[in-house]
Amino acid sequence: MKKWYAVIGDPIAHSRSPEMHTRWLDEEKIDASYIPIHLTKEQLAEGVNSLRLLGCSGWNVTVPHKEAIIPLLDAIDPLAEKMQAVNTVVRQADGTLKGYNTDGLGYVRSLEERFPEISKESRVLIIGAGGAAKGIAFAMKQEGYSSITITNRTMERAETLAQSLGKQAMTLDEASEQLDSFDILIQTTSVGMQHSIQGVPLDLANLRSDAIVTDIIYTPKETEFLRLARQKGAKTMNGLGMFIHQGALAFSYWTNRYPDAQSLMNEWNN
Ligand code: ATR
Repeated sequence: MKKWYAVIGDPIAHSRSPEMHTRWLDEEKIDASYIPIHLTKEQLAEGVNSLRLLGCSGWNVTVPHKEAIIPLLDAIDPLAEKMQAVNTVVRQADGTLKGYNTDGLGYVRSLEERFPEISKESRVLIIGAGGAAKGIAFAMKQEGYSSITITNRTMERAETLAQSLGKQAMTLDEASEQLDSFDILIQTTSVGMQHSIQGVPLDLANLRSDAIVTDIIYTPKETEFLRLARQKGAKTMNGLGMFIHQGALAFSYWTNRYPDAQSLMNEWNN
């Protein structure tokens, strides 16, 4: 029987996941489809039951359902459990549904692919303490990065996340002052997003010229934060690779094949 996959969220019309996965299914010659499904919060439980009943082989989960879907599944991967967020559901051989999270791992994959020279001892600063920061922080830790510091506008949230990781937190002012002690910066806040808050979340005056500076935003392709970092000589990366690799990892969980992420990245970044 032809398999089918989906992405659920609210809103969902803007999602680039259907285009991405349909292309990879074609490239890998897998006879399956991938469709967007609009589900509101109120419809989530019924929607997930319907996907289960109708035999959907797996789906992605986007805003605002990543946390709320957890109790509706049969099993959860330990990393997703730590993050308390699921972005990928896999129907297992026995028909049960297991939740995973590929967002943070997708980020790490994009970082290591783009900068193969980085070491696990690099001193990493994560700016932000929301869901995205949490996903990346747990994935970085799992992948062996030993030095991770969290900074955030609301210090309490930075401390809570740092504590759950067993890492340290700093205020934005402290981080700006000590910026030359970090090798990799990861900007996870909404500052710089199109139609959102302009400017930068943190002063870059003390940035090392050999630092790697990344932003999880990819519209615009270059945020003010990345532009300033690039002008100071830093190597920069936007969030497109994270988006593509979270999808590629999900695709590999469903099909056992890792798709060609690089070609898509080259096309979409141009
Ligand atoms: P997400 O799940 O996308 O990470 P979130 O949980 O709402 O979204 O988190 C948004 C992040 O952006 C938070 O770290 C937030 O800082 P606060 O915890 O202090 O709210 C950060 N953020 C949003 N607007 C900001 C601004 N104008 N300046 C600095 N940080 C900002």
